[in-house]
Amino acid sequence: MTKQYKNLVNGEWKLSDNDIKIYAPANGEELGSVPAMSQEDVDYVYATAKAAQPAWRALSYVERAAYLHKAADILVRDAEKIGAVLSKEVAKGYKAAVSEVVRTADIIRYAAEEGVRLEGEVLEGGSFEAGSKKKIAIVRREPLGLVLAISPFNYPVNLAGSKIAPALISGNVVALKPPTQGSISGLLLAEAFAEAGLPAGVFSTITGKGSVIGDYIVEHEAVNFINFTGSTPIGERIGKLAGMRPIMLELGGKDSAIVLEDANLAKAAKDIVLGGLSYSGQRCTAVKRVLVMDSVADKLTELINAEVAKLSVGMPEDNADITPVIDSGSADYIEGLAKDAEEKGAKAQTEFKREGNLIWPTIYDNVTTDMRLAWEEPFGPIMPIIRVSSVEEAVKISNESEYGLQASVFTNNFPLAFKIAEQLEVGTVHINNKTQRGTDNFPFLGAKKSGAGTQGVKYSIEAMTTVKSTVFDIAD
Ligand code: NAP
Ligand code: G3H
Repeated sequence: MTKQYKNLVNGEWKLSDNDIKIYAPANGEELGSVPAMSQEDVDYVYATAKAAQPAWRALSYVERAAYLHKAADILVRDAEKIGAVLSKEVAKGYKAAVSEVVRTADIIRYAAEEGVRLEGEVLEGGSFEAGSKKKIAIVRREPLGLVLAISPFNYPVNLAGSKIAPALISGNVVALKPPTQGSISGLLLAEAFAEAGLPAGVFSTITGKGSVIGDYIVEHEAVNFINFTGSTPIGERIGKLAGMRPIMLELGGKDSAIVLEDANLAKAAKDIVLGGLSYSGQRCTAVKRVLVMDSVADKLTELINAEVAKLSVGMPEDNADITPVIDSGSADYIEGLAKDAEEKGAKAQTEFKREGNLIWPTIYDNVTTDMRLAWEEPFGPIMPIIRVSSVEEAVKISNESEYGLQASVFTNNFPLAFKIAEQLEVGTVHINNKTQRGTDNFPFLGAKKSGAGTQGVKYSIEAMTTVKSTVFDIAD
């Protein structure tokens, strides 16, 4: 029998009446089981978390930071152990999985340090009429209370840590709902916080299928802030259920790489392939379409094909660049996008090939705007090249997307690059590089259906705190 993983609840490890078996997407190996929490289990998590908050909030920043530093040290110590499980659970190359754990430790440390530096401000009256010059406002940041953190399968540790650490350092308590496929990794992350000695109830976990317990955990009145990363439809649903409570949503994307005539095409091709196809394209920030000027399109396509040919296809334990995608539903969806593009005249640069959930990387040239691949997020190793005849056309197609996460512009004409960056309706534009989240202190946000609110350690702390003013009148 494989291991029965437990939830961290009020400082103890707990099973539930039911559980969910977790299998490796790459080979079907049973990896263990996690509890399927009931509504009563969730009520208990929330009640104990709320009870723990006043004492946690009363600690100084330095005291809270010490717990976080300790958790980060434990993660680094256990990076290979956790990475090995993570690699199997979400079919991510082993080295990338270990890096994800170490990156999470870095975020936790940075959050601890950022918290220690958190300052309020003093405002003076006097800018308005009628006695205001005697007024002084002391503006301080306060935690919101209980933060519900919901993370996606593709970064089950990193995109949990990036929510948990800024929330905790600010004096909030946290309940983490990891993705079901990724929940063992989420529980291993929780083990690091538990071993660091966090007081009971300050950090808890909730496992169970989002389709079953999702609405309940989100709507629950105990929750003060919801920090979600995942797909746009689920994010929109959470937005509706959240009511007046503040939320953070990191959602889907369709990031464009715009390549102009004067670009360093060899570099652009390398960045596009790495940025678009690493971890089989299962990154929110993956390059998900190339918009290239007609005059250099043949050359760029040739260079991209040469880079794709270098990619290894195989299993996570072999550190392959392209590994099986997360499940058969996802593989079917990717295949559907590929077939639609082929039927409408896109030119596959290599024959589309699929064995189970393993899909070989495929570039589609001559993609046109009537094809689904021009607009939908494959979250898989296929990428469209759309040929354009002007910068204006590239910007127009890019902006017609319902998404607005990131974009790249490849050119050596920097004034033009800045002009294009201004025109693109996205959260971040990278000049001469692939789209990517990091570094993790930078603001990270999506426009339109790519999200709401701004992540990035300092920004996450701001989002999960509120200002409170205390106002004095100075005596005459
Ligand atoms: P997903 O299906 O939306 O799931 C994300 C999380 O939400 C999982 O923990 C899931 O739990 C949970 N969930 C499902 N239904 C829920 C509900 N009704 N209420 C509350 N929670 C619910 O997304 P995914 O497939 O894991 O991740 C891929 C998507 O995430 C892509 O669209 C990608 O672009 C996006 N993403 C965005 C960013 C960003 O920063 N913008 C980063 C990474 C990924 P279960 O696993 O139990 O269903
Ligand atoms: O999937 C979304 C992640 O936030 C992407 O992070 O660009 O560092 O791979 P990354």
